[in-house]
Amino acid sequence: MAVSCVDCNATMDQIVDAVWAHLHAGANAGKERSPFTMLQAATIALDGAPAVRTVVLRRASREQRSVMFHTDVRSTKVAELRRDPRISLVGCDLDGGVQIRLHGAARIVEAPSETRAVWNASRPRTLIVYRTPIAPATPVVSPAEAHATKHDENVDPSAGFENFCLIEVSVSSIDYLDLNPSGHIRASLVFEEGKWRGAWIAP
Ligand SMILES: Cc1cc2nc3c(=O)[nH]c(=O)nc-3n(C[C@H](O)[C@H](O)[C@H](O)COP(=O)(O)O)c2cc1C
Repeated sequence: MAVSCVDCNATMDQIVDAVWAHLHAGANAGKERSPFTMLQAATIALDGAPAVRTVVLRRASREQRSVMFHTDVRSTKVAELRRDPRISLVGCDLDGGVQIRLHGAARIVEAPSETRAVWNASRPRTLIVYRTPIAPATPVVSPAEAHATKHDENVDPSAGFENFCLIEVSVSSIDYLDLNPSGHIRASLVFEEGKWRGAWIAP
């Protein structure tokens, strides 16, 4: 899905529109690739150091001001988010020269009442990783030791469900950077009193 470009004459409303259009395109890319399907998610590690990793953007909701990705409840990032829910995500369109940084608070969604429908709607091959009994980051003798069996047709479709969770990020501020050839654009957007308030800032 093409997202229309903004330029130096854009209004803040157009910047907000562009940000969410990029995120919606990223979350709904299907077979087409979108630059914003893969985001880097940064947390604060248990020792206070920064920690960052790639995640797949699974849902973006402008109305709810949220983005969501799937992960393993046993993963390090979940332990980090339980201790400090602050999270930043960044995505970049290299061809378009656009960077979007999101800041917010993560909710670890574990209740089957909320996760079951997402699990059921997910492509089975994306769920295999949750079936391994070996938790992420556990030392293994060889990579294969941590693999779940891929082609077992008799596997229970719910196998691994207990390890599956959603991370729903409530976005409170956004940093938009556009390296437009006719002039670089950077905007800082903060959600306050029920609306996005934006200001231009120096790139
Ligand atoms: C292309 C790509 C997509 C990924 N998507 C996810 C994802 O959606 N969720 C996830 O938990 N890990 C995903 N990973 C793996 C993470 O980057 C990371 O290695 C793993 O989750 C362990 O992170 P942690 O130790 O910080 O918890 C992805 C990795 C790559 C290379």
